[in-house]
Amino acid sequence: MIRVEGLCKTFTSGWLRRRRVEAVKDVSFSIAKGETLGLVGESGCGKSTLSRLMVKLLPADQGRIYMEDQDITNYTMTQMLPLRRQMQIIFQHPDSALNPRQTMQQSLIEPLLLHRLMGKDEALHKAVELLELVGLGSDMLIRYPHQISGGQIQRVVIARALTLNPRFLVLDEPTSMLDVSVQAQVMEVLQQVQSQFEMAYLFISHDLELVAHVCQHMVIMHQGEIVEQACSKVVMEQPQHPYTRQLVQAFGDMR
Ligand SMILES: Nc1ncnc2c1ncn2[C@@H]1O[C@H](COP(=O)(O)OP(=O)(O)O)[C@@H](O)[C@H]1O
Ligand SMILES: [Mg+2]
Repeated sequence: MIRVEGLCKTFTSGWLRRRRVEAVKDVSFSIAKGETLGLVGESGCGKSTLSRLMVKLLPADQGRIYMEDQDITNYTMTQMLPLRRQMQIIFQHPDSALNPRQTMQQSLIEPLLLHRLMGKDEALHKAVELLELVGLGSDMLIRYPHQISGGQIQRVVIARALTLNPRFLVLDEPTSMLDVSVQAQVMEVLQQVQSQFEMAYLFISHDLELVAHVCQHMVIMHQGEIVEQACSKVVMEQPQHPYTRQLVQAFGDMR
C-alpha cells in the first residue's frame, strides 16, 4: 500500500547559532493493506516528522515515497489532490483537532462538502452513519468540542478522518492524552474500523506495550534512525539493538 525508501529530513533553526537537527535519517519500510505497523521511540526521535513526510505535509530532503506503486515523491499539490483524501493523520491532541466554534455536525460534513463529494443532506446522513460506527449517537451532532469528553472528541476525529474513505491512516499517538480505560475503547474502535475498510495504519506511540499489543510488526526509532524492524513478538522476546533491549527491559521492570 505505502512504501518509503531512504527518507531523510534535516531541520535548521536559529539564526545566531545555527542548529541542525537530523530528524529523520535514511528510513525505509512498507505497510501492506489491512496491516498496522507500529512506530515506537522516545519523544523527539522523529516520529511525527516521519509521518508528515509520508503524507507529504512536509517535503523530504531525500528518499522516495510510493503509494500503491505510484512514486508520489515529487507530486505537485494538484497531483496530490486526489491522494490527499486517501491519506489521513489523527493527531495526539484531541483538543486542537476540532474547530472550537464548530458543532460536531459542521466538523463532520465539512470535508465532504469541501471535496464536493455529496450534497448537504447526504453528507449529514453519512455523518450519522460514521458516528454510529465509532460508537456515538446522533445527539453529538449539535454539540461543540467543549461540551464533550476527550474520548468522545477522539472518536469524532476518527469519524471525520473516515469521511473521505482513506486507505492509509497515520495515528500519531492517538490515545496518549486519554485515560487508560478510554484509551482501550478508542483502540477498539480503530481496530474495528480497520478490519471493515482494510486500511493500512501507521500506529505511532512511545508506549511499547500498547504497540506490541496492537501491531503485528514494529519499527523502533532512535534519534531519527530505525534501529530495529521486526515482528512485535520477536522484538519483545529477542531484541537485537542495545536501544531496543533497553526499551524492552524498562517495560519488563514496570510489570
Ligand atoms: N519544524 C521544525 N523545525 C525545527 N526542528 C523541528 C521541527 N519539527 C521537528 N523538529 C525537531 O526534529 C526532531 C524530531 O521531532 P518530532 O518528529 O516531533 O519527534 P517525535 O514525534 O518523535 O516526538 C526534534 O528534535 C524536533 O525538535
Ligand atoms: Mg510526535
